[in-house]
Amino acid sequence: MATNYKEELTGVFGYPVAENPTCVMQQAAFEALGLQWRYLTIEVHPESLTPAIVGAKAMGFRGINLTIPHKVAVMPLLDGIAPDAQMIGAVNTVRRDDEGRFIGENTDGKGFLRGVREDAGIDPAGKRIVLLGAGGAARAVAVELALAGAAEITVVNRSVERGESMTGDLVARTGAKASFVPWTNTYRVGSDVDILVNSTSIGLYPDVDAMPDVALDDVSPDLLVCDVIPNPPSTPFLRAATERGLPTLDGLSMLVYQGVIGFQMWTGETPPEDVMRDALKAAFGV
Ligand SMILES: NC(=O)c1ccc[n+]([C@@H]2O[C@H](COP(=O)([O-])OP(=O)(O)OC[C@H]3O[C@@H](n4cnc5c(N)ncnc54)[C@H](OP(=O)(O)O)[C@@H]3O)[C@@H](O)[C@H]2O)c1
Repeated sequence: MATNYKEELTGVFGYPVAENPTCVMQQAAFEALGLQWRYLTIEVHPESLTPAIVGAKAMGFRGINLTIPHKVAVMPLLDGIAPDAQMIGAVNTVRRDDEGRFIGENTDGKGFLRGVREDAGIDPAGKRIVLLGAGGAARAVAVELALAGAAEITVVNRSVERGESMTGDLVARTGAKASFVPWTNTYRVGSDVDILVNSTSIGLYPDVDAMPDVALDDVSPDLLVCDVIPNPPSTPFLRAATERGLPTLDGLSMLVYQGVIGFQMWTGETPPEDVMRDALKAAFGV
């Protein structure tokens, strides 16, 4: 066989980016399938995003992940944006299409949705949802739940401006039935709620003892309690739910599935999901 040292390039652009763990799972998946692909963790200063995207295209990058602070800023630099990423207002994944164009996607909410359907075994259609948070993760989760037919979405957020803005965009862009509740003191989750999601950053490493201020005294015994925090996957919030006998879904599931969806978009192949999950678990020490 002829020698081929050429690698297909993918990677993440962020600032800061050193602690981004995605390289661990994507590189493990490339190697498990014997693909001559490389996932690079690249620090791109906000002022350098435009030349970085131009350069990535020139070098034939097959895919790019965007993390803080580039998820919104990258949008005008791309050749097209997928409809759900447009509704979310952010791009976390770029794929190169057959014509060499860079298309913006958002796999965060899709990854979350797959966990709800497959790991928790729940169809969000017709369900009543409470979402804690109104940042980028909350927007992605809310749009995908709305597109999946959720009956009602209540956004609970500390900053009124962010919460109202997210809820307004959600209603205008998806037609979902949604309302906003300012998070001023302990939020009591009602007995009619089917799915509760912590989509804030509360509980993220190193703040591992922090927990969203919610009361679960009145909830339905079937309430699905979800957390987007991937590291550590066992958060105080999920542990409190488990102690009450409630079903839970962790943020590691979301992280793995959003990476699986990205891998499929880039390579056209089905990745080894267990390899990706195990690689992340080893990186997180769990
Ligand atoms: N598992 C995955 O695949 C995945 C994917 C994407 C993101 N994430 C995780 O999602 C989390 C949020 O990311 P993001 O991009 O949405 O961040 P973000 O845009 O900065 O939003 C953070 C959200 O958390 C809220 N918040 C933070 N600290 C709070 C506190 N002490 N009390 C009440 N609310 C608080 C903020 O409320 P205010 O508006 O009031 O500030 C805001 O709604 C991160 O931990 C990230 O790791 C996970």
